[in-house]
Amino acid sequence: MNPIAPLPLLAQAASPTTWPTVSPGGGTAWMPPAASTAAHHADFVFYFIYWVAVFFFVLIVALMAYFAIRYRRRAAHERAPGAATHNTALEITWSAIPLALVIVMFYLGYRGFLDMVNPPADALPILVTGQKWVWSFTYPNGHSDTELHVPVDRPVQLTLWSSDVIHSFYVPAFRIKRDAVPGRYNKIWFEATKPGEYLALCAEYCGTQHSDMLARVVVHEPGGYESWLSEASDPFRTRSYAEVGRLIHQKRCAGCHSVDGSANIGPTFKGIWNHQVALRDGTSVLVDENYIRESILYPQKQIVKGYDPVMPTFQGQLKDREILALIEYIKELEK
Ligand code: CUA
Repeated sequence: MNPIAPLPLLAQAASPTTWPTVSPGGGTAWMPPAASTAAHHADFVFYFIYWVAVFFFVLIVALMAYFAIRYRRRAAHERAPGAATHNTALEITWSAIPLALVIVMFYLGYRGFLDMVNPPADALPILVTGQKWVWSFTYPNGHSDTELHVPVDRPVQLTLWSSDVIHSFYVPAFRIKRDAVPGRYNKIWFEATKPGEYLALCAEYCGTQHSDMLARVVVHEPGGYESWLSEASDPFRTRSYAEVGRLIHQKRCAGCHSVDGSANIGPTFKGIWNHQVALRDGTSVLVDENYIRESILYPQKQIVKGYDPVMPTFQGQLKDREILALIEYIKELEK
């Protein structure tokens, strides 16, 4: 950790740009709003188990209290009444009913699980990459983004993997959760039913910033997904390099690198361009195009003094043009 910023996580919580908002509202005390075709079944199984548990809790506690009073010892000299050895009918009943109930619970849960991992043939395929500590989504045209955008009323198949440790991709509003595991591909699918913005989380502890591993999920009205994808795939069409760099910073870098001069997990981007910075090994380096490019692609090579070597590489995640855009943005911060 950087000694100048002893509470980097609090510092990050103060920057709302990294925290996705969620709409629409709704939901209950137990459940977030339901926004996928799988939600109805998941909620049914949840409430079925819930009410069975409530019923038996009330029944058992009430009987316990009743028996404690009914069969209490009334006087010191009184003998306990003769205890029954067994009652076959009663014992079969209290075994068979719970057995039937858990078989029903298993059947309902297993049916839902099988449905969730077997996508329909026409599902839109999206690749989900888990990496400390960011989700990225690769669309069929090759575009990679930190937001999950999908069309409404169309099945979407997610293929999940991880480039480091085990993460777990979780969208409460869709009632889907699946591990992203290094060395294998897991699949899950969903069909969103309501346009709006939702939250995806990481549900497997994966290190310091596990709780910040959030992603915005956007469900588009018909036609909106296609126009978002073509716009997002080529941000350069309507923007300057520095503007694109600012967008990339917001999505990819803002969690660790500020642009206002304050220290975070990593050094700030402000005030570094064309300056000498001191490195951990005692040398110093001039921040120019080559240094920035190298820091993005080989972040472990030259660590700035006072910081830990925790940055992951962005090789394969940022295109050459996007790296140039970030460089232009860092230059622009000096103006
Ligand atoms: Cu990734 Cu927790």
